[in-house]
Amino acid sequence: MFLKIDDMLQDQFNRTVKYLRVSVTDRCDFRCVYCMAEEMEFVPREQLLTLEELNEITRAFVELGVNKVRITGGEPLVRRDIDQLFENLGQLKGLDELTLTTNGSQLPKYAGKLVKSGVKRINISLDSLNKDLFKELTRTGNLDHVLAGIDSAINAGLKVKLNSVVLKNRNVDEVINLVDYAVTKGIDISFIEEMPLGVIAEHARDEEFISSDKLRKIIEAKYQLTKLETDNSNAGPSKYWAVSQNNTATSSRVGFISPHSDNFCSTCNRVRLTATGQLLLCLGNEHSVDLKAVVRNYPKDTDRLKQTIIAAMGIKPERHYFELSDEPEILRFMNTTGG
Ligand code: GTP
Ligand code: 5AD
Ligand code: SF4
Repeated sequence: MFLKIDDMLQDQFNRTVKYLRVSVTDRCDFRCVYCMAEEMEFVPREQLLTLEELNEITRAFVELGVNKVRITGGEPLVRRDIDQLFENLGQLKGLDELTLTTNGSQLPKYAGKLVKSGVKRINISLDSLNKDLFKELTRTGNLDHVLAGIDSAINAGLKVKLNSVVLKNRNVDEVINLVDYAVTKGIDISFIEEMPLGVIAEHARDEEFISSDKLRKIIEAKYQLTKLETDNSNAGPSKYWAVSQNNTATSSRVGFISPHSDNFCSTCNRVRLTATGQLLLCLGNEHSVDLKAVVRNYPKDTDRLKQTIIAAMGIKPERHYFELSDEPEILRFMNTTGG
């Protein structure tokens, strides 16, 4: 295998990959009903990439033109010594954006350290502002801890975006409250259509589906929404609307991530590294390449690692196909990929 190493990762559908999502653990202190089963078996720790290996693989991607890295989980901030990884990645030349997606529970401890490592904005999941419902949806989460986490992130100077997965029969009534909260805090919020990843027993995914269009109408009962064009080729799949109330602009935007009702795969710019070192080429497909084997069998052979990554672009699938009504095709849960 002798592929030319230049500074671009290109797939066969002419998409350039510049965004790497790195899951550092499949563990989490929550058990969100759409993400995990109630009883989960997590990967034994010795199968995880070490912090050094995570750093080495991420550096190879950055040298291949990736300029945005998002650390995910499970919950990334429950991984021991995670601040060291942020500190090291924060020093990578060519990395324009180092960020994370978190459930917020550990932010009072970590927000200041993240800022010191160069993190500027983060995404925090929040599906309800009602304590009891929050507990029901996360099974083990505590709303007060998350709200304290959001405040500590804002106070530390981080730009915060909220992510809410909306389930038709469970938290639709929370949508306006969540937008109110985002507007009060002056932050953005994205609503996500649930994806069928992993077998869950708690609800039928097709019965809980509500489209982004319907959510927009619900929000428009109180707020005026104006569609915005995406201004950033490195953005994720969220499409944004500016939010005004009584014809006065707020500083919040509302976004919609619509894997079912508005497929965004043609602009996909990202790949994912799992905590066990599998490079996943698409969230909705199984195509993967084992990068752990490369870093363990050929330590310090950066060229081989880069060539494996370049070759992997050749199997990046064109798009995801999610069927809500059947058994899920993708058996891995979302905590393996961090979204
Ligand atoms: P920004 O950098 O703020 O644009 O964030 P992002 O949307 O890239 O990241 P975030 O972690 O907030 O992602 C939100 C959710 O979008 C994820 O948890 C997934 O549910 C969904 N998502 C992100 N990327 C993909 C993708 O490639 N395919 C699909 N189907 N869903 C995705
Ligand atoms: N469908 C859509 N989003 C999901 N998330 C977790 N599981 C699912 C799912 N099945 C979201 C979380 C968080 C991000 C990491 O992924 O709410 O915002
Ligand atoms: Fe944990 Fe995030 Fe999954 Fe919830 S969605 S269980 S917070 S990894």
